[in-house]
Amino acid sequence: MAKTLTHLLSLLILFFLSAEAARTKLYSVNGNNAVSSSSMAASDSICKSMVESQGYVCEDHKVTTEDGYILSMQRIPVGRSGKKPDKPPVLLQHGLLVDAVTWLLNSPDESLAFILADSGYDVWIANTRGTNSSLGHTSLSPTDAAYWNWSWDELVTYDLPATFQCVYDQTRQKLHYVGHSLGTLIAFAAFSEKKLLNMLRSAALLSPIAFLGQMPSPLARAAADAFIAEDLYWLGLNEFSLGGEAAAKLVKDICDKTHSNCSDLMTAFTGKNCCVNSSRTDIFLNHEPQPSATKNMIHLAQMIRRGTIAMYDYGSEDENNEHYGQPTPPAYNMASIPNDLPLFLSYGGQDLLSDVQDVQTLLDTLKDHDPDKLVVQYRADYAHADFVFGVNAKQVVYDPLVAFFKLH
Ligand SMILES: *[C@@H]1O[C@H](CO)[C@@H](O)[C@H](O)[C@H]1NC(C)=O
Ligand SMILES: *[C@@H]1O[C@H](CO)[C@@H](O)[C@H](O)[C@H]1NC(C)=O
Ligand SMILES: *[C@@H]1O[C@H](CO)[C@@H](O)[C@H](O)[C@H]1NC(C)=O
Ligand SMILES: *[C@@H]1O[C@H](CO)[C@@H](O)[C@H](O)[C@H]1NC(C)=O
Repeated sequence: MAKTLTHLLSLLILFFLSAEAARTKLYSVNGNNAVSSSSMAASDSICKSMVESQGYVCEDHKVTTEDGYILSMQRIPVGRSGKKPDKPPVLLQHGLLVDAVTWLLNSPDESLAFILADSGYDVWIANTRGTNSSLGHTSLSPTDAAYWNWSWDELVTYDLPATFQCVYDQTRQKLHYVGHSLGTLIAFAAFSEKKLLNMLRSAALLSPIAFLGQMPSPLARAAADAFIAEDLYWLGLNEFSLGGEAAAKLVKDICDKTHSNCSDLMTAFTGKNCCVNSSRTDIFLNHEPQPSATKNMIHLAQMIRRGTIAMYDYGSEDENNEHYGQPTPPAYNMASIPNDLPLFLSYGGQDLLSDVQDVQTLLDTLKDHDPDKLVVQYRADYAHADFVFGVNAKQVVYDPLVAFFKLH
């Protein structure tokens, strides 16, 4: 049973689900003030448990989005040497169902956040709305359905601009951006609308996700089908949480239906990670997975089913008209990303979520990009989690990434 539970949890590591215990603990406090003071404690604890414990200085920052979500960010303003940063700020944006901890799990010589701080960058780490340290809101509580009424469109419209602006206001410098997985999707979408560019130097996109139409992960596909087929049921749940019965049943059903070997769900979902240190799994599971909005999961499911990259589809022409003034959701046009924006893309041959064919579709749409502003790196043995947790990611990905930042 314990083993099954661990597998269930690790399944969602980078794609689906959330931990019940922490949530119940946090939400059992009544009222918004209580929630935001709990979430303050949570982000303090990222600084304390994940950063200061490694011998680094850590600052906690709060930023309120235009739609009222109070997000926490961790800043590592200096490296271990104590020398003031001589390089620009870098903003790290995690993927789906994880949080800032994702960048801090390995040793300082292996984790990107520490490597950047030790290289003289001023490091800022974001936490998406709904994660443990970003549960606050000016008027809503996570127990309200309206709190979970968002998909990644809102991360593009509200969360990203808020975190960019916070870093810019504090440092008065344009930043380098690093996104992983969902953190790449929201950046591509924002850049395609020419947003944030005035505060941006360059962007590194690891496990890039824009198109999901070819995604081969059989479990993620089956989950997408289930979300779409029963979207009204899922939407009624507001918050997407693996710890909940509904998600556990979903996982069991799709394992049965796809005849998958569910003793290794992590691999079935994300691909075979070559280089993740399995003796750190427990530390990971102490912090992740984190909740997301069901509406966000349905939005991703729509992308998997249709292969398009567009805004959330309300499911009927009338409702889309009401929200968008047109019968179908507006598309994000990747070809509109400015050709002179410095981009570093790194993708892996074993990644079942950022599939090689989908990345190729993205690269095709970027075909007019200035060749000296686009670095594309392919690593045959890497899967989804290796880009963040790989024990050799410094040599494979981060050293080239830092070299790219130095050029821009
Ligand atoms: C959430 O934050 C609390 C501190 O308020 C911490 O004790 C707990 O471990 C965190 N949970 C997760 C899943 O990160
Ligand atoms: C969710 O947000 C949309 C606008 O994005 C709004 O039209 C709708 O009424 C909201 N629903 C709930 C339940 O708050
Ligand atoms: C399922 O995967 C596990 C671990 O990867 C392996 O030990 C087991 O033999 C597999 N079972 C089947 C039926 O393939
Ligand atoms: C893997 O993690 C263990 C436990 O934290 C650590 O002792 C070991 O050095 C790590 N291995 C590598 C290659 O980083």
